[in-house]
Amino acid sequence: MVLHGEIRSAVKEILTVACPVVHPAALEQGSVEVAPEVDPAAVSVFLEQFYAEVAPGVDPVMRVRQALNQVALTGTYTHTQDELTWAARVAWRNADRCVGRAGWGSLVVRDRRTVTSSAGIAAETFEHARWSTNDGRIRPAMTVFAPARPGCPGPRIRNEQIFRYADDPMNQNTRDAAQRAGWVPSGRRWDLLPLLVDAGDGAGLGVFSVPANSVLEVPIGHPDHPWLAEFGLRWYALPAITSMRMEVGGLWYSAAPFGGWYMETEIATRNLADTKRLNVLPAIAQALGLDPVSPWIDWRDRAAVLLNEAVLWSFRTHGVKVSAHRMETERFLAFIARERQAGRGHLESADWSWVVPPSACPTPAYHHYYRSEPEQPLPRLVRDR
Ligand code: ARG
Repeated sequence: MVLHGEIRSAVKEILTVACPVVHPAALEQGSVEVAPEVDPAAVSVFLEQFYAEVAPGVDPVMRVRQALNQVALTGTYTHTQDELTWAARVAWRNADRCVGRAGWGSLVVRDRRTVTSSAGIAAETFEHARWSTNDGRIRPAMTVFAPARPGCPGPRIRNEQIFRYADDPMNQNTRDAAQRAGWVPSGRRWDLLPLLVDAGDGAGLGVFSVPANSVLEVPIGHPDHPWLAEFGLRWYALPAITSMRMEVGGLWYSAAPFGGWYMETEIATRNLADTKRLNVLPAIAQALGLDPVSPWIDWRDRAAVLLNEAVLWSFRTHGVKVSAHRMETERFLAFIARERQAGRGHLESADWSWVVPPSACPTPAYHHYYRSEPEQPLPRLVRDR
């Protein structure tokens, strides 16, 4: 369908409704980002890539023309379910901080683009958690809500993950925002923060407590050190990111929660151990009777290894899927090799400091970012052979 320029812009004007007024409460946590105009080049690049990988031999020209017409008429366009599923899988394949990408082809996409209210988004996000957790037999999944209209903010989940503990210092901002929005903490340890959803419809921030049937948590113990159970440590089974948007073919999917299973170091070496997180290593080292001042044998390393064993053992004995850093990094290198075989070596990218396990985390040097200058300052040492 080809329309004259004038008719086209008239139609576009009728179809383009003004963005809803952004509610002040939604503005609170940082700036509200507005989706850009749909770039026609991004539309055709994406669709051509999709056809080349999924239906080689089929000419994408009809689909590209249809999509571009829809953009010209309405300012945006609609992905088919197949396009959306493939996009989400490839977004995972391309995630350069993720060491678990080997499973990208198995990601299950839940298309919820018709769910637009904050209550609906919260309910579907909790359902995502329940389905993906699957009583511990975790299934990697992404739930996709409606993309942002160009020029408008899209729906957004303000939390970083579906599950976050209120007493983890990392979540201070979310905790404050939840309290400002009326949430009252129980005061108990391991309080889960509510989901904060801004549907982008001008209705403001919705606050939704985590329903008990959507979260699975694992108490942490150690087979050889029964005293560890008395620490009362625990962690949730499903890491599910809610703070990233997916950009596909010129569209912004601003609410698209996704997740899979944990690698044990994420919980044991970072979340429970970091001095700026739950900082449990000193107590473990003390219980082990380790010398807290020896500069030779580092009690932190020993305590961290014990905690890694504890997390692996606890998840496994509770029937919750978890991977260990050795097997996960072996899988990762196999993934890289497969990508090269598939002719995508030139697209390969990984963020070294993220995909390498954090075993050196108990040392202070790990937590500092360094500039690396191409030219060292003078005087300098230069590698000679
Ligand atoms: N590192 C984050 C955490 O400890 C989770 C990031 C995603 N991890 C994953 N295994 N899918 O909560």
